[in-house]
Amino acid sequence: MHLKDRVAIVTGSGRGIGFAIAKLLAEHGAKIALVDINKDDLTKGKSEIESLGGIAKTFVCDVSDWENVQNVVKEIINEWGRIDILVNNAGITRDNLILRLTPEDWDLVIAVNLKGAFLFTKAVARQMMKQKYGKIVNISSVVGLMGNAAQSNYSSSKAGLIGLTKSTAKELAGKGIRCNAVAPGFIETEMTKNLSEKAVQSFLDSTPLKYAGRPEDVANLVMFLASPESDYITGEVIRVDGGMAM
Ligand code: NAI
Repeated sequence: MHLKDRVAIVTGSGRGIGFAIAKLLAEHGAKIALVDINKDDLTKGKSEIESLGGIAKTFVCDVSDWENVQNVVKEIINEWGRIDILVNNAGITRDNLILRLTPEDWDLVIAVNLKGAFLFTKAVARQMMKQKYGKIVNISSVVGLMGNAAQSNYSSSKAGLIGLTKSTAKELAGKGIRCNAVAPGFIETEMTKNLSEKAVQSFLDSTPLKYAGRPEDVANLVMFLASPESDYITGEVIRVDGGMAM
């Protein structure tokens, strides 16, 4: 229980990787603010965490909406008095070739994946500075390191998250705040469920371990980066990708 009395925000935690992270942090004693745009998934997630003896509250929030984000952070501070961990996990895809990709789908993916992480970082920074302690983990992607055809919007947002991570790490280190990024490879979730068989095969072909990761594989690394055991690590990008981007 080495996260006992810690307060953690996990965005996009209604399902998938975000929920696996929230569940693991809760199992280690953290109080969890489950943040998602999907209310039904939040309700399910909260009862699952509570059934395991964890503590969770739900917040319906669009991470790209500054007013919404500020209100959620204020509520969490009012309720629990502190914020120790922020995991910027909410993310979407709107894949298309550059010639077909609409400016609207460019803006939307950047707004949720990149601006959303900036807004939550901005909203929690003052509280973490006051505490002289905070852990921020941004969920990037291997395509943020390597690029990917038909994902110019998504891979740009994920590369942008790496820039945000390093800038945040440098700017807030003096205040006891660490910021790192995790770059998952191919992980089995709703997000990757609808990929064509050909796309899945090509991901697996380029993964030396030859199998897809599970949300728990990402959660285990986030747990380490959220815990005091990783206190001397900041501004780092760590892949969880079965070797894909090596
Ligand atoms: P998912 O689609 O299963 O879950 C994403 C969650 O984010 C959903 O619960 C969704 O409702 C929420 N969300 C979407 N837009 C939101 C918004 N505007 N405000 C608040 N919440 C919002 O996806 P998955 O696979 O769990 O992905 C989680 C993160 O991991 C994403 O950032 C994704 O880009 C990243 N990732 C996933 C990989 C994979 O293979 N599944 C690989 C690399 C990175």
